[in-house]
Amino acid sequence: MTLEQLTDTERLAHLSLEQLHQLVGLVEYDASHDPFPVTGWDAVVWAVGNATQTSHFFMSAFGMDLVAYSGPETGNRDRKSYVLESGAVRFVIEGGVHPDSEVIRHHAQHGDGIVDIALEVPDVDRCIAHAASQAATVLEEPHDVTDEHGTVRRATIATYGETRHTLIDRSRYHGPYLPGYVERRSSYVRPAGAPRRLFQALDHVVGNVELGRMDDWVAFYRRVMGFTNMAEFIGDDIATDYSALMSKVVASGNHRVKFPLNEPAIARKRSQIDEYLEFYRGPGAQHLALATNDILTAVDHLRAAGVEFLNTPDSYYEDPELRARIGNVRVPIDELQKRGILVDRDEDGYLLQIFTQPIGDRPTVFFELIERHGSLGFGKGNFKALFEAIEREQDRRGNL
Ligand SMILES: [Fe+2]
Repeated sequence: MTLEQLTDTERLAHLSLEQLHQLVGLVEYDASHDPFPVTGWDAVVWAVGNATQTSHFFMSAFGMDLVAYSGPETGNRDRKSYVLESGAVRFVIEGGVHPDSEVIRHHAQHGDGIVDIALEVPDVDRCIAHAASQAATVLEEPHDVTDEHGTVRRATIATYGETRHTLIDRSRYHGPYLPGYVERRSSYVRPAGAPRRLFQALDHVVGNVELGRMDDWVAFYRRVMGFTNMAEFIGDDIATDYSALMSKVVASGNHRVKFPLNEPAIARKRSQIDEYLEFYRGPGAQHLALATNDILTAVDHLRAAGVEFLNTPDSYYEDPELRARIGNVRVPIDELQKRGILVDRDEDGYLLQIFTQPIGDRPTVFFELIERHGSLGFGKGNFKALFEAIEREQDRRGNL
């Protein structure tokens, strides 16, 4: 197959390749020499303290739709698992039912967080054969799982911390998610005037790893999964007066899947990555960037639903250097300033972005919203302003 195709989820969400090119910077590439071809994201699986309520939050605040469910009523005694979608983005929210559930152990250790960044692949066996030859830890060997809707083939490999990548071939499956799940809708009614969805696709998932391990994990994604380097940010790019981090980005051949990897850097005070590593008890997924074609509307609805964002100081918008650098964007700067939306421009175009506060109780996982207009970057020009905003919050928590 060529990887210039849409995944099932993208097709069902009525997205086109053209739209994906704009939304997430999709590129064409030749998959025939890729040792580990990846079609795209399959699902982001969360372990949380209360899946019933967290799934409601993703519906009522993030505008996602409940589509499937697994739990005691469907024969799954261990956990409740809610499947939510927005465009091509699929979240699976899991909470432990039985006190001995593995989900409860994971949650006690890490708090609300991401356990599995599942990827859709055309050939699970080929990927696992390659991963095993590169000394990856295979947690689940390739196997079929079947129900009345068909068969999926799946396998799982380990990545940083306790995070996993499940690889799924769902080309022979037509159910609502996976065998064991039933279709389920919610009686929740969206507020009048709310758009059909606030975001359409997943742009990138950032991993925080231990001091000195970033290059090892970059090498892991290159060697085991055939990813390529996209960008790197070191030293002055992302250092403030107090704290610092280093970041490198790896991407799948078609750039649907992008993984920035951060490690703390030595600085005068504790970096945001150190804070994450302490409170998550080790490496894990730090933020998910949700691609939207209308960040203003998305932010307005999220904020009206009570989602809190990092504050951007007015000085950011009044900085003549910034104004000169960003040039013309699709909306007046005042509209961005009102909402605290950041702008960055590079040789390919520009992007608009904003970051939420951590969404759980621990200062760990948060979201980014990103609206791309040609730029394939990650907002490098905003790192300093952004990190200073994060440090103000860190200081308020007593963790700087
Ligand atoms: Fe990001």
